Amino acid sequence: MTKKVSPAPARHVIWFGWKLVITLSVSLCIFALLKLHFKSDFSSPASSFYRSRSRISRGSFQFVGPPKIAFLFLVRKDLPLDFLWATFFENAQVSNFSIFIHSAPGFEFDESTTRSHFFYGRQLKNSIQVIWGESSMIEAERLLLSAALEDPANQRFVLLSDSCVPLYNFSYIYSYLMASPRSFVDSFVDTKEERYNQNMSPIIRKNKWRKGSQWITLVRSHAEVIVDDEVIFQVFQKHCKRAPPPDTSKGKLNPKPKKQNNCIPDEHYVQTLLSMAELEGELERRTLTYTVWNQSATKMESKGWHPITFTYANAGPQKIKEIKEILSGSCHAPFESGGGWCL
Ligand SMILES: *[C@@H]1O[C@H](CO)[C@@H](O)[C@H](O)[C@H]1NC(C)=O
Ligand SMILES: *[C@@H]1O[C@H](CO)[C@@H](O)[C@H](O)[C@H]1NC(C)=O
Ligand SMILES: *[C@@H]1O[C@H](CO)[C@@H](O)[C@H](O)[C@H]1NC(C)=O
Repeated sequence: MTKKVSPAPARHVIWFGWKLVITLSVSLCIFALLKLHFKSDFSSPASSFYRSRSRISRGSFQFVGPPKIAFLFLVRKDLPLDFLWATFFENAQVSNFSIFIHSAPGFEFDESTTRSHFFYGRQLKNSIQVIWGESSMIEAERLLLSAALEDPANQRFVLLSDSCVPLYNFSYIYSYLMASPRSFVDSFVDTKEERYNQNMSPIIRKNKWRKGSQWITLVRSHAEVIVDDEVIFQVFQKHCKRAPPPDTSKGKLNPKPKKQNNCIPDEHYVQTLLSMAELEGELERRTLTYTVWNQSATKMESKGWHPITFTYANAGPQKIKEIKEILSGSCHAPFESGGGWCL
């Protein structure tokens, strides 16, 4: 009897041992899988930038051949100045540039809407409804950059509005941009800062928050950082909401909308992202697009926030000459000093 009893606990111990080993192995496997899966979610924003930057993406390093400038038009509907751009592009080699347009979804650039064949069919198929002052504005910028990155020949990326006009001919702009290994991004610390939202602080620290003109010119590696960013963009989407218009139907005015909601992403996103990615050393911290924002506050309120529009009457040859002198001067004074950054 005793002989029969003794092997039973031994078998039991061995079986228990195996069970333990199997359970442990399965747990370790699951743990390893979970770790792999969540690595990106739990890693710090900085390390995710390094991931983006180290990604061998879209053939940028392999590219050999004549580089192109990608002209990215972020427009409301049509291109009222198409005739002017047509003259500009007629003096370029077609192999030196590409054009992408983000306009209202469904709008077509063809013979019926555009006076220049350069723009036909150049509207993004995946364009979105853009609302001024909301994150849809920077989403549209990212869509333009993403489409342009598909062509490895695109090495410089110029963001333009439907109100922009070229002040120089194509060959001048081409050599100016290709000669610079840096992006042109107006970016500074606003001492009167009111748009930073404390709720962003776990990811975006206040000392990394930047402001600057929306109109940027990027080198390819910076365009990739913007398109690959999954962290900072989400923070802007979550925390930058435009204040709702006053609801007069309730008889009395709404309480004043929270100021920190109104953070105007297009004047902060690229600048803040590049500052967080430690890329400010690779920037010329000025814009190549001239704008004047000195309209009186009351005019701003009634017409909406918009810089001065140059018209046939106030943009003669003398004015254009003055603007060119400003742009070619030494440009270190920031936006907040008023009247153009290079004065
Ligand atoms: C382009 O503009 C530059 C500077 O304004 C000028 O020197 C050059 O001759 C122009 N080139 C052509 C092809 O018109
Ligand atoms: C087009 O690109 C080539 C190669 O980079 C350059 O030599 C040429 O001057 C460019 N043409 C114009 C009109 O900019
Ligand atoms: C705004 O700035 C421009 C360019 O410096 C100047 O010509 C204009 O007179 C200014 N307008 C106002 C209202 O200050």
